[in-house]
Amino acid sequence: MIPQSFIEELKMNCDIESVVSSYVQLRKRGRISTGLCPFHSEKTGSFTVYPESQSFYCFGCGAGGDVIGFIRRIENLEYVEAIKFLAQRAGMNVPEDAAEDKTALLKTKILEMNREAARFYFSELTKPSGKAALDYLLGRGLEPKTIKHFGLGYAPNEWTSLTDLLASKGYRYEDMEAAQLSRKSNKSGRYYDVFRDRVMFPIIDLRGNVIGFGGRKMSGDGPKYYNSPDTPVFKKTKNLFALNFAKKQKLERLILCEGYMDVIAMHQAGFTEAVASLGTSLTSDQCRLASSYVEEAVLAYDSDEAGQKATKRAISLLDEVGIRSKVLSIPDAKDPDEYIKKFGGTRFKKLIEQSAGSTEYELSKISAKYDVATPEGKISALKDAVNLLAGMKNPLEREVWAAKLARDYGTTKEGILSQVQTKIKRRARAEGARAISGQSAQTTTFGGAVPEKLRNPASAAAEERLLGALMRSPEALSTVSTVVSPNDFVCELYGRFYEKLLSTLSTGTEVSLTLFGEDFTLEQQGIIAKLTNLAREHRYSAEDAAEAAKNILRLKEKKTDKEIGELSGDELAAYIERMRKAKK
Ligand code: GTP
Ligand code: MN
Repeated sequence: MIPQSFIEELKMNCDIESVVSSYVQLRKRGRISTGLCPFHSEKTGSFTVYPESQSFYCFGCGAGGDVIGFIRRIENLEYVEAIKFLAQRAGMNVPEDAAEDKTALLKTKILEMNREAARFYFSELTKPSGKAALDYLLGRGLEPKTIKHFGLGYAPNEWTSLTDLLASKGYRYEDMEAAQLSRKSNKSGRYYDVFRDRVMFPIIDLRGNVIGFGGRKMSGDGPKYYNSPDTPVFKKTKNLFALNFAKKQKLERLILCEGYMDVIAMHQAGFTEAVASLGTSLTSDQCRLASSYVEEAVLAYDSDEAGQKATKRAISLLDEVGIRSKVLSIPDAKDPDEYIKKFGGTRFKKLIEQSAGSTEYELSKISAKYDVATPEGKISALKDAVNLLAGMKNPLEREVWAAKLARDYGTTKEGILSQVQTKIKRRARAEGARAISGQSAQTTTFGGAVPEKLRNPASAAAEERLLGALMRSPEALSTVSTVVSPNDFVCELYGRFYEKLLSTLSTGTEVSLTLFGEDFTLEQQGIIAKLTNLAREHRYSAEDAAEAAKNILRLKEKKTDKEIGELSGDELAAYIERMRKAKK
């Protein structure tokens, strides 16, 4: 744990405007500064820095937080790493306790060993014993400079060559095991190499560290690829293979594919924006990582059924973080690597240019699902298609697709659009029924981070107002704390925000966005930043805090008609009394 006092001091020394301006060109506008958001691509400056509260917020993508949150996002660092980064910038020494020292030391050791290992594997390719591996890579169409660029290598067909090498350089066996490079034999108690007789693909993070490996067998049975399990420096669900190379350019989009070889073949053919998840299916962490760089992704998954399934899944995961997908269909080849090898990079470029947007892909799936030569099939397909269109927010987009459907299915655009309208209205009614009438509609659902909001919009709104008002007027905290407790909150996340705010009463720490840096994720920090920001816009005061606190209690107490019907006479009297008090 880094003491809060150090963090406060650090923030004093790291003015947010000056830190941000090393990354973003800021323009002063009165008391704030704005610029182009570094976390999503945009043409107007939605990115705003507030020197008064030492915070930032982007109206375009919702990223927000304090100077530490900014560094975490832009440098892709964990909380403590971001603090160290800033401390270095400010010339301050981070106080560390022994335990933290130990993990930090182990991490450094693992990274060193990984680098040694990558060097070793690469050099093995040039030896006679590595010739088969080199021939394998060349045979797959890789040029020597591509092999060098990606640092590919060969883990020899022996039991202890890497383990011995690392030991000779003074590394401890337990540390090699922690790096997942060596493993201890149950029988002999000796350590042996994890990767043997495999072509090696080093996995490199955004700072150029070798964090793990993928190893491919050249022949024989058993698993084709073996990937390093997670280690203190490697979290496979949070990294994308080759993003370190892809991010070197100004990115318009990423090409997402399934395998190492697809990525490498694409980079060799000039598509240096290709990345892959690491032997697992795409995760939401990877999508968020991608969303710091691009708003569009081309999905270039395998053309088999598994690949198509993965594509569908990826579309919705990417959609959740605001990335548009385009889908590549790869004719006459199983994956991009094979396609490029067969038909060349120029043809592949055409494929990319023609890649369908996800709507077109969904529609083609729908028409494949039914026998559209029959009237019944056509009707079923149109029903599905209407459903799809009803989910589109942009009316123009609905028009365009309705027109296309009308052509494809021999019906009229107006007919389809009126069906879509009916569907939209029905959905809105269903939503409305869930909401409590007379309360302000939810402005944003925060990407599912506040799931309770959908069913309890009124409570959520009151909780949001309370939190925002408290961020602006912390002096109201001590009064409010006697009225409302975190348990009274309907939204779990908001309750936790509130709890954190309350903790400042006993610790005397200052109320600022920094409070939320350690125990909350970047997304959650973005949410509290947004609430703070809304409070600023609405000029919420201490009185708003008091009123919102009362509302939270009143809504908590408010029972449904059915529940009231089930109360006994005494209970009913008590309930009415409580409601009357709460209203005051
Ligand atoms: P090749 O072209 O045959 O080298 O492989 P590929 O890149 O086309 O890979 P494939 O589509 O078979 O698999 C995609 C990715 O899934 C690979 O890059 C690996 O990360 C992972 N993968 C494939 N096979 C295995 C396996 O047997 N075990 C594990 N853990 N991962 C695998
Ligand atoms: Mn392949």
